[in-house]
Amino acid sequence: MCPLFSLFILHMITGAAAQLRHGYYSETCPKAKSIVQDVMKVALIREPRSLASVMRLQFHDCFVNGCDASLLLDDTPTMLGEKLALANINSLRSYEVVDQVKEALEKVCPGVVSCADIIIMASRDAVYLTGGPYWEVKLGRLDSLTARKEDSDNVMPSPRSNATFLIGLFAKFNLSVKDLVALSGSHSIGKARCFSIIFRLYNQSGSGRPDPAIDPKFRQKLDKLCPLNVDQNITGDLDATPVKFDNQYFRDLVAGRGFLNSDQTLFTFPETREFVKQFSIDQGKFFKAFVKGMIKMGDLTVDQPGEVRKNCRVVNSHSSKFPMHPS
Ligand code: HEM
Repeated sequence: MCPLFSLFILHMITGAAAQLRHGYYSETCPKAKSIVQDVMKVALIREPRSLASVMRLQFHDCFVNGCDASLLLDDTPTMLGEKLALANINSLRSYEVVDQVKEALEKVCPGVVSCADIIIMASRDAVYLTGGPYWEVKLGRLDSLTARKEDSDNVMPSPRSNATFLIGLFAKFNLSVKDLVALSGSHSIGKARCFSIIFRLYNQSGSGRPDPAIDPKFRQKLDKLCPLNVDQNITGDLDATPVKFDNQYFRDLVAGRGFLNSDQTLFTFPETREFVKQFSIDQGKFFKAFVKGMIKMGDLTVDQPGEVRKNCRVVNSHSSKFPMHPS
């Protein structure tokens, strides 16, 4: 990572969270919280995986220029946004659930609740509605006026990453080793593509061999799911209980049954292993650390002008009735 980029991230952290607060919409849109949760409940019934997909949006939004919904902007003839970035293309999904939340909010309090805050509230609800902890979120974010594919490509980690790299990356966002391990526990829900694991099944680190950290029985299962010539968009579960937010993910890692290399490495490396062990035997500890991590990640903001978009996919036109706010 270039030094200029590191400086930028530092700026991003120090400028963080100044205006964010609990109850931000209590007067301007008192029903916001329940409207978001109601849409998420419908999404859960319609397609349980969509809650995981929405929760992932917080990570991919907040790590790229702060939590500003830049991720949600569709490309335009003059702007290549984040949706086509390597970590997002053919992978991020359920944008339509965010659209549904936005539509429901616009009906009741038009132009008030930002898309960036919707991601934060919806992610919290995704965790809670699948069996995880509940927490109060700070709100008051603005939506970005632009997005750049390369900003995501410069930051978002590959599933091939090892724990040392991930520790360094998270540290740049003021997130500790414990935060990294706890936040990776988000892989307690959801799925990933064969594309994300094919290298570790057949050619780990260029060895021409599978990752030795995979439990042999689990590897047989993965080989069946993802043979070399497979359609790489086929998906497998990230843990053994993929629609329940629990500490099964960590028990799987201890057993060598982590799906991604970036998951299993947390047990292989001594710096992270202790936390994996702790979370695997104490779900309460995991939940507490996860909430702390999500709040810290939600605090990432950048000083930049923003607005409350009326459609999360496009910036408001300047003639719009929704004013642009200075940062
Ligand atoms: C530690 C570094 C991380 C890496 C390298 C990583 C990588 C990945 C990859 C490769 C996938 C599957 C993509 C695909 O195959 O299409 C995935 C899925 C997912 N990630 Fe992460 N991730 C990380 C951290 C996080 C964090 C911090 C969160 C949220 C707090 C998160 C939430 C999710 C969820 C919920 C899914 C499943 C989504 C679905 O089913 O649609 N991840 N991640």
